[in-house]
Amino acid sequence: TFSPRNIVVTGGCGFIGSNFVRWVAENRPETHVTVLDKLTYAGNPENIAGLPAERVELVVGDICDAGLLERVVPGHDAVVHYAAESHNDNSISDPEPFIRTNVEGTFRLLEAARRHGLRFHHVSTDEVYGDLALDEPRRFRPDDPYRPSSPYSSSKASSDMLVRAWHRTYGLPATISNCSNNYGPYQHVEKFIPRQVTNLLCGGRAKLYGDGRNVRDWIHTEDHSRAVWDVLTKGRPGETYLVGADGERSNLEVLQAILMAMGRDPEDFDWVRDRPGHDRRYAIDPAKTMEELGWEPRHRDFSEGLEDTIAWYAEHRDWWMPAKEATEAKYAEQGQ
Ligand code: NAD
Ligand code: DAU
Repeated sequence: TFSPRNIVVTGGCGFIGSNFVRWVAENRPETHVTVLDKLTYAGNPENIAGLPAERVELVVGDICDAGLLERVVPGHDAVVHYAAESHNDNSISDPEPFIRTNVEGTFRLLEAARRHGLRFHHVSTDEVYGDLALDEPRRFRPDDPYRPSSPYSSSKASSDMLVRAWHRTYGLPATISNCSNNYGPYQHVEKFIPRQVTNLLCGGRAKLYGDGRNVRDWIHTEDHSRAVWDVLTKGRPGETYLVGADGERSNLEVLQAILMAMGRDPEDFDWVRDRPGHDRRYAIDPAKTMEELGWEPRHRDFSEGLEDTIAWYAEHRDWWMPAKEATEAKYAEQGQ
């Protein structure tokens, strides 16, 4: 096993990255974390506030800035790369930042890791594999072909390809994890679950795309954090590990669970314009990750995890309120 003492976590002020940083600070006190984050609209330093300063340091900057990487990266033994533009709807209205951050940014980081001898863990998505039909008796496996649908997922697929090439060509000790849809605290209000919960908390209405039958495979973000740590420390360089928790549910099912948990009529929501190119279903087969690394999900009760998440948003209005209005204005423009 690999025991990193000094890691760079890119995107550590975003949803999943900050949950990982808090997990490391709590569970691996011997490891120092340097968070490198540009603080885009999706990054919030509040997400890692209050952690011990001797264990977690924030550097504000862009992963595309090669000069900055030359100053930040030396002296660390691994990069855990979360930074990305992450939202499909945004990638459809304006793809350019997705190509820059997700493709060029990953290239810059790979070069910095290669020059300074760091191990590299790339955090990616199940969306690189495209989508499945609702009735297909198959789930994604690590060696499946890549066939991404959106500007977002194609930019992530591109970044995965770069990581695979840097391993094969330069021998960079790199691993990739492709995870399904995360939920939990600190997720931006643009995403499905927080959007519905905060709409209802604001007195607005929930919004469902298309026919609501699209399926996502939900996993609690804490289970994802443990999986990333396990891949970083026990994964074999050059390998891809899929992370999922048998959490397949239709959007309609999830929305109605939210409405009921919040004491609303389960039919009281708006059907809105579908996302162009909307992927039908994602489903992860995590067998390799479980068998090889001994990882397994602990948050197995989705309704309990959902209720905790709803309670978190109800208690953290000050955290999400500042982003709410602009997010909804953007959706309104798109008829969503
Ligand atoms: P997020 O949008 O909440 O956070 C992204 C973070 O990256 C923000 O803090 C932002 O400021 C930072 N960032 C963006 N561009 C940057 C740049 N050029 N330089 C430095 N920092 C930059 O995203 P998330 O949902 O937490 O996703 C994190 C990672 O996990 C992404 O790589 C995403 O593809 C992957 N992923 C997400 C999910 C999911 O369900 N959300 C599932 C699987 C994989
Ligand atoms: O599968 C992993 C991916 O999950 C990550 O790679 C992405 O970064 C992350 O954003 C997420 O992508 P999705 O597109 O699946 O997530 P999103 O929360 O945007 O939407 C989830 C589903 O809910 C999707 O089918 C679209 C639908 N939806 C979304 C919103 C915002 C609605 O029906 N209504 C909404 O208001």
